[in-house]
Order: sequence, then C-alpha cells, then structure tokens
Amino acid sequence: MLPVNPDRFLNSLHALRQFGAAGIGKGVQRPAYTDADVAARDWLAEEMRTAGLTPHFDPVGNLFGLCEGPSLLLGSHSDSQPEGGWLDGALGVMAALEIAKATQEAGGPPVSVVSFEDEEGRFGVTTGSAVWAGNLALDKADTLTDRDGVRFDAARAVFADRAEGFVDPSRFTGFFEMHIEQGPYLDTTGEKIGVVSDIVGIRDMKIILEGQQNHAGTTPMHLRRDAFQALARFSTLINERFRNVVTPATVWTIGHVSLHPNASSIVPGKVTFSMQWRDGDADRLARMEEIIRATAAEVAGEDFALSFGPMLGLEPVPMDTRLRGALASSAEHVAPGKWRDMPSGALHDATNVSRLMPVAMLFVPSIGGISHDFAEDTDEADLVTGLEVLAGAVATL
Ligand code: GLV
Ligand code: MN
Ligand code: MN
Repeated sequence: MLPVNPDRFLNSLHALRQFGAAGIGKGVQRPAYTDADVAARDWLAEEMRTAGLTPHFDPVGNLFGLCEGPSLLLGSHSDSQPEGGWLDGALGVMAALEIAKATQEAGGPPVSVVSFEDEEGRFGVTTGSAVWAGNLALDKADTLTDRDGVRFDAARAVFADRAEGFVDPSRFTGFFEMHIEQGPYLDTTGEKIGVVSDIVGIRDMKIILEGQQNHAGTTPMHLRRDAFQALARFSTLINERFRNVVTPATVWTIGHVSLHPNASSIVPGKVTFSMQWRDGDADRLARMEEIIRATAAEVAGEDFALSFGPMLGLEPVPMDTRLRGALASSAEHVAPGKWRDMPSGALHDATNVSRLMPVAMLFVPSIGGISHDFAEDTDEADLVTGLEVLAGAVATL
C-alpha cells in the first residue's frame, strides 16, 4: 500500500476550490478559459513543480505534470460547469497529485498527472481531451462557439504564451480517473466505491428554428410563427416519439435555450437550443438522432426555417479489464463488501484517453446524488477511501 497523506490531499482540494469559489456551500464557477480557470491552472502548475513533476501546458490548455520516463497517468479536469461543485473533476486531479507525491516518497511507481481542459463542454464535449486523443480535430474544434458566440480558437489563445506542443501519449502506460459518482446509487446503497464498467456515449447538437418576430399585441394567434411555441411542441413530441426506442437508462436534455429577442411584448422569431442525448448503445444513439431530425422537420413545417449546428459526440467505451481488476481488488481490500461495479452515465475524459491507452475509473458517493450544482458534496471520509483505493491499485501495477 502506498502511504498517501489524507490531510495533505484534502487541504489541496480545498485550496483548489478557492479559485472561482461561488454560491452557497462549496460551489465553484470555473468554466474553461475564464480567469478563475487560468489562475487555478497556474497554481496547479506550481504545485506540480513543487511535487517534482514538470508542468506542461499544451495548445488547448491541458496541463500535464510529467515525470521522467514511462509512467502511469492519473487525473481528470479542473474546469467547472457555469454553476458547479468543488469535486467534479477537481477530485481526480488532486487525488492524482497526492498519489504522485506519495509514489515519489515511496520510490515508485512513476506517476504523471493531468488536468484536462474544457471537460465540461463550454465549447464541445470533453474538448481538451478530445483534441489530445484525436477524437476531435483541432481545426474543427477551433470553429466551435460557446453560448455567447466566443470561438474556441479565441478562448484557447489565453494559453498561447504558456503552450508547448501536445504531449506524446506513448510515454504513458495507462490512465486512472477518480471521480464523484454524480448520481444516486452509491449514496442510496451506502456503498463507498463504484468501479466503472463502461462509460455511456453522447450526442449533442444545436437546433435552430426561425419563424417571424412580431408585435405581441397585434399579431393574431393563428398568424403567428412563434419560435417558443415551436420549441414547446418539439419538446412534447420528442418525449412521445422516443418512448418506443429508449430504455430506463437512456437520457435526453434540452439544457440551453436562447430565445430571440427574449422580450415580453415581442412574439419570439428565433430559438436556438441544445439537444443532448446519452445511452450505452451506439445504435440507439443513431436511432434517436433520426427521430430528432424528423421531429424537428415536422415541427418546422412550412412556417419555420430549420437548421442544425455541428453534431458532437463520443462513443460508449468499456474500461480496460486489467486496470479495472486492479481497482476492484483494491476496493475489496480497502472497503470489503462495500463497493460495486457500475456504468457511468456522466461523460469523462477517460472516454477520449481510452483511444490512446488502457483506462479505468472509480467513483465515490455523491451526497443526495447532486452534481452540476453548487450543492454537490461528498463526505470527506469517502473522498479519502477513494484515494486509498486508487493508491492501492497504482501500487499493484
Ligand atoms: C460531464 O460533466 C458530463 O456532462 O457528463
Ligand atoms: Mn467531471
Ligand atoms: Mn461535470
């Protein structure tokens, strides 16, 4: 067993939370490429240097702490949702740094650390690791825009003076990502650890419907081409159309809506909204896409111009059997009878990294199953249990 230092780990996790600390409880606002995110990465680079690792920013802001020679890679992301918690991503990065320190103190095995950039998809879906792994071409990523119309190439320029090239992935022998579950299962059962079996796939695209902007007092209801009403109809219809295709594990979300011009006395002429869907079966994801496109066309009819933004997506991926087995053995040692195998319904950088090397993931419970919210939290004893399980797995490899 590696001698990890729980207090040092928890203190560094709390220190990271100070960058972008917001809202009630332990909330953070640290979206990718914002001042808080960049400041956190600069701080993390110094922490890596102090830990004897060589900090390395790549052209999209992924930050690696490299040790010499071949090594395991551990980490996650340190950007957050526009309203996020202190653990989503941060946990995996600070656990990685603690284990890198512990392995150096113990004389091995060599561990490098990474904080991927824009995992939370201000621009794409797990953008930084997707570019690094070749799931998303950099020139395509550069044309993506956030919800305010800022382009990815403009945002990532903030790292131009720090950036070196992309890190050669062949120096890493495997990747472990520790994360909060972000769902209700472990919290409900009282189990302490989830060893991830596979990560679901995702599709995400913008849909745009344009009708006719007009006066909200004088335009008769039957003559309106109201973009909000079109979106409402689409949302109702899609829930019905999916019914025969989905399983209880399938999820879909309209999470961002931009209504133009968004004023009480104007019949809205245009709506741009996000449509995202996730499932463990790639065929089902494709079938859902057909239904989405057909339903949007039906709603648009003659009255609305319909267009679609770029389709972003990641395929479902299984975890590596050997690394997953190391986590399972360690979980049984640290928390006997209190762990389970489980799929991940959230996306993770591990999906992209699995193109490059063997990967595995472990979860700790989320209190109340809450995440992507300021209220996200985990009992600190559970965070330490996760750290010990990860350290145990690393020590056996
Ligand atoms: C990543 O946070 C996701 O949306 O699953
Ligand atoms: Mn995350
Ligand atoms: Mn997240």
